[in-house]
Amino acid sequence: MSKEVWQPGNMLYPIPAVMVSCGKTGEKPNIITVAWAGNISSSPAMLSISVRKERYSYDIIKKTGEFVVNLTSKKLARATDWCGVRSGRDYDKFKEMNLTPLESQKISAPGIAEAPVNIECKVKQIVELGSHDLFIAEVMCVTVDDRLLDDKGRLDLGKAQLVAYSHGEYFMLGEKLGKFGYSVAKKTSDKKAPTHKKRSKGKK
Ligand SMILES: Cc1cc2nc3c(=O)[nH]c(=O)nc-3n(C[C@H](O)[C@H](O)[C@H](O)COP(=O)(O)O)c2cc1C
Repeated sequence: MSKEVWQPGNMLYPIPAVMVSCGKTGEKPNIITVAWAGNISSSPAMLSISVRKERYSYDIIKKTGEFVVNLTSKKLARATDWCGVRSGRDYDKFKEMNLTPLESQKISAPGIAEAPVNIECKVKQIVELGSHDLFIAEVMCVTVDDRLLDDKGRLDLGKAQLVAYSHGEYFMLGEKLGKFGYSVAKKTSDKKAPTHKKRSKGKK
């Protein structure tokens, strides 16, 4: 086996491409597509997004200290891309993409009603890294489309047709290969539909 050696670069894929909504009170809310995002702590629940200073959303998030991470689905794929190539300086992205601002539970910034999951966040720390600033945030609340719940109230995220981003391209999640811990489980129960309880068993 031979390998090519490349210069340092971002090659951690697949990752989510999320729509981050933000807004100042009294002004039109905005959406920025973010791929540099990830979970960083379970307790407290925290995540991070990396945003370039020149983005219109940067100042909004910095000043308000709030944003909502909206998961993206097959239906939202076009809007996800569009919100990542057009600026809120020039467009009302909610209006252009026919999206509905969703009043948040714990923060002032709105979520996106059409997204399967909305993660309300408060910024705790901003770290200057170079091209991007890292916004480290605490999750204040999560809202879930109740059509994704099964009859026992468990979240079935497989129904959401979530989108992943890999090396410049969008993909819909495909075949299920196993579930958390399946590699060491005595019996596999992979024939069952993928379901998730409200409080996940597989905490990292
Ligand atoms: C798939 C995708 C991922 C992106 N990821 C990021 C990111 O992680 N951080 C960032 O600052 N910009 C990212 N962008 C670019 C911004 O979304 C884009 O510049 C957007 O127009 C900024 O909007 P705004 O000026 O309204 O804030 C991404 C764009 C796309 C299409």
